Amino acid sequence: MIFGATGDLAKRKLYPSLYHLFNKGKLTKRFAVIGVARRPLSHEDFKAHVKDSVLTSIGSNDNIDEFVSHFYYQAHDVTDSDSYMALKKLADDLDGEYSIDGNRIFYLAMAPEFFGTIAEHLKSDGLTDTSGFKRLVIEKPFGHDLPSAQELNERIRTAFSEDEIYRIDHYLGKEMIQNIEVIRFANALFEPLWNNRYISNIQVTSSETLGVEERGGYYEKSGALRDMVQNHMLQMVALLAMEPPIKLTTDEIRSEKVKVLRALRSIKDEGIKDYFVRGQYGEGQIDGKSVSGYREEHNVNEESNTETYVAGKLMIDNFRWAGVPIYIRTGKRMTAKSTKIVVQFKDIPMNLYYSMDKPLAPNLLVIHIQPEEGITLHLNAKKSGQGMETTPVKLNFSNKSVDGMNTPEAYEKLLHDCMRGDATNFTHWDEVALSWSFVDKISDIWESTKDTGFPNYEAGTMGPRAADELLAKDGFFWWPVTNLDVDNC
Ligand code: BG6
Repeated sequence: MIFGATGDLAKRKLYPSLYHLFNKGKLTKRFAVIGVARRPLSHEDFKAHVKDSVLTSIGSNDNIDEFVSHFYYQAHDVTDSDSYMALKKLADDLDGEYSIDGNRIFYLAMAPEFFGTIAEHLKSDGLTDTSGFKRLVIEKPFGHDLPSAQELNERIRTAFSEDEIYRIDHYLGKEMIQNIEVIRFANALFEPLWNNRYISNIQVTSSETLGVEERGGYYEKSGALRDMVQNHMLQMVALLAMEPPIKLTTDEIRSEKVKVLRALRSIKDEGIKDYFVRGQYGEGQIDGKSVSGYREEHNVNEESNTETYVAGKLMIDNFRWAGVPIYIRTGKRMTAKSTKIVVQFKDIPMNLYYSMDKPLAPNLLVIHIQPEEGITLHLNAKKSGQGMETTPVKLNFSNKSVDGMNTPEAYEKLLHDCMRGDATNFTHWDEVALSWSFVDKISDIWESTKDTGFPNYEAGTMGPRAADELLAKDGFFWWPVTNLDVDNC
């Protein structure tokens, strides 16, 4: 059952992903999808809507009629028990017709303020009372701070146990984010060096060229810290910094990630400037076109103090990472759409090849998350010819060159994982709670010191100058996101 079935997420991501799974034979014939939303539609209207969503987003229509024949629709009021009764009746009928054995997935692809109400009704109106499995998939934001997340969690826990709740962080479905563990734990080369003896710093950048588009209302209350750092950025950090799990099971991996989040140095009022920088874009140029500043966007206060950019220095106070800064930065309206992780190794103890005009470049391991997918290892080698001059070289693995195909979309993998009952790439409540308590300290300080000098970066740039100073104080600089490209060696 997809709640929010006529919404944007369902249209752009869920139907195309289900269609892919269907065509790849990853859905058995024994499934039915009930679209649930406010507006009155017939089953046929809804099938046409799904068909149109798939065609618009994928452009192909192989087996589309067979695919949409599994779709049904139920007009619904989320606060009204009669609606849930009608939904239950339809679900029970389809259960018999398709022999689904009572297995149910409830996907809440809608405004989070209804999550608690829906979960409570699903229980009180009998929809969770089923002979098969029941799973709840929820989108972010999961609360807007720790107390609201706790309250929401308590409400949904009245109907679903923790292992039945699948909290989506779509970054965890990205191919190269899933690859972080494999790179680390399937290669003898990296794990011995993966600590404070050999790594000088790590940089995680997730930059966007888009502004807030139509989401000004939501974004004004969220800002980049809650929108990106609390979830995607901290999840990437946890995967980079965790200890090897004893087994690749959901619980073991999650418990290692939780330890990283517990070891994050908490930010104190007086020291925030040494650890976090916030920014807001003013007008500027993206791809040669003028774009307006954040304060001019639709549904945004013209004196808004919401940050559209965050850079931070995270310290993980444990044996492995003591003294190694992990820098993160994310923002809207930056130079390029790019998510990259750069692991910078310490300089070798002594440079035999040193000459004044050419110091040795540090070794870097770059994990390209998007738009390219791959890994680049930056080394030094001998320049061909006479003499012993060195030159930087790159070893490249480009994911696209392996199978020549686009890698599957995050949602496709996550939906399939949920159907199979694998919650590894979803966030556990403990991770959500720890991430909120880390982020809440920063937002509390920022909210009490509103004088920001916003806007402080031009659209189309890599953020405010203070973000460069954050690294310069430690003797580092941000590695560029554009000329470290995987195919550009
Ligand atoms: C979402 C945020 O979670 O992630 C958006 O709410 C952001 O503001 C998006 O644009 C970025 O995702 P991706 O996959 O495009 O990097």
